[in-house]
Amino acid sequence: MNTQLRASGGWWITLATGLATFTALLGLFLQEGFDADALHAGVRWTARGALVSFWIVFVSSSARSLWSSATTRWLVANRRYLGVSFGIFMGFHLLMLIALGVLFPGPFFSQLDALTITGGGLAYAFTAAMVLTSSDRSVRRLGRARWFRLHRMGLWFNWAVFTFTYFGDIRAHPQQGWALTSLWIGAGLRWVTARTRSG
Ligand code: HEM
Repeated sequence: MNTQLRASGGWWITLATGLATFTALLGLFLQEGFDADALHAGVRWTARGALVSFWIVFVSSSARSLWSSATTRWLVANRRYLGVSFGIFMGFHLLMLIALGVLFPGPFFSQLDALTITGGGLAYAFTAAMVLTSSDRSVRRLGRARWFRLHRMGLWFNWAVFTFTYFGDIRAHPQQGWALTSLWIGAGLRWVTARTRSG
């Protein structure tokens, strides 16, 4: 059953994410030119795409426990590929940042602080470790408990970086409250599920 569900998604999800993101960024640069504004827009788009894929992975298991349906079972069966899609969005986020740093170093570095670099860098280290261990072989090699711990810590660390980023921006862009709300709804769903399972 799981294999069937996976066959209707699988690595195609990841490939589609990569191609769609690449095409969207190419369209952006062809239309706007390859300047600092377009690169900043690229940084924001990729972060938002990453948030959507992150959120789906973050809540999928809770959603299946609370509302078992064909959709939630499909999400859990394809969680690995959705997770690697999150890694792809973050890879493009990093590429946009590198381009900004190389082409427009002055304004770019003046906007960064030590907390962003340390927190963002650690989140990238977790994401890289999660992507690199997204295989059955890695689960066997690390052992299920250690693999699970690594992925759970990585998820929560990324959740914290998203929450911190949007919280810091809420006064300037109150419309981004939707992002914060969805992050807290996700955390709430996981909390309810954990209590139901342990109860
Ligand atoms: C060292 C690593 C990172 C650096 C230097 C960095 C830098 C930046 C910069 C400069 C922006 C502002 C772009 C603009 O508005 O012009 C931004 C936006 C953002 N970044 Fe990153 N980032 C890093 C890692 C991360 C990570 C790991 C996450 C998530 C887990 C993340 C999530 C976001 C989000 C949510 C936004 C706002 C997007 C929006 O406006 O909706 N960043 N980042």
